[in-house]
Amino acid sequence: MNYPNVQVLDHPLIRHKLTLLRNRNTTHRDFRQLAEELAGLMTYEVCRNMQTRPHPVETPLELYEGQELENEVTIVPVLRAGLVMAQGMLDMIPHAKVGHIGLFRDENTLQPVQYYCKLPASTPGSDVFVVDPMLATGGSASKALSLVKERHPRSILFCCIIAAPEGIQVLEREHPDVKIVTLEIDRELNEYGYILPGLGDAGDRIYGTK
Ligand code: PRP
Ligand code: URA
Repeated sequence: MNYPNVQVLDHPLIRHKLTLLRNRNTTHRDFRQLAEELAGLMTYEVCRNMQTRPHPVETPLELYEGQELENEVTIVPVLRAGLVMAQGMLDMIPHAKVGHIGLFRDENTLQPVQYYCKLPASTPGSDVFVVDPMLATGGSASKALSLVKERHPRSILFCCIIAAPEGIQVLEREHPDVKIVTLEIDRELNEYGYILPGLGDAGDRIYGTK
């Protein structure tokens, strides 16, 4: 299946770390670290086309005609699981601002329930990365993108670790203007809305809540 809005990042290191992440025997501590590392690798690629502007600095020896990122970056994790991805991205872009969107999926209806939204005042001028490891039915991602769009950012990208075809189709229908970057597209959802083969419940695996 070809999804025009989706970029899948394929790299030997990503394949290696993603396999460790999916392993049911991976500990919470290792899971958190791997998810952060994967988000860091993803950052390298999603920043590829960012504009830079001249930023001259003095080295100890002479003037250097350097560069700096031109636009403000805002990372918006979808709580809870998005927090580890945000940390991995912040390791690469420490000057980025961070917004938070709190959503959980009602386990009966699978609909997202919002409990928090705090975005930087400067969001309208910012390149925004909305981050959440799992794109399953797409309900949470679609809601998060709608909340960010109310602030009219300069650009917006949805970054996840694993995407299900069902969620991609929802985002392509409801947010056709938003590019999705993922590390892998999985096969399908099961009857409870979990991604197969997936990695289980990302929030529970990160925080050890089950
Ligand atoms: C998970 C995940 C996404 C959502 C994806 O969060 O981190 O936010 O499910 O599912 P969807 O595409 O069907 O909406 P969850 O609702 O479990 O909340 P949590 O991170 O607080 O555990
Ligand atoms: N949320 C998760 O954490 N995992 C899934 O497989 C689906 C939704």
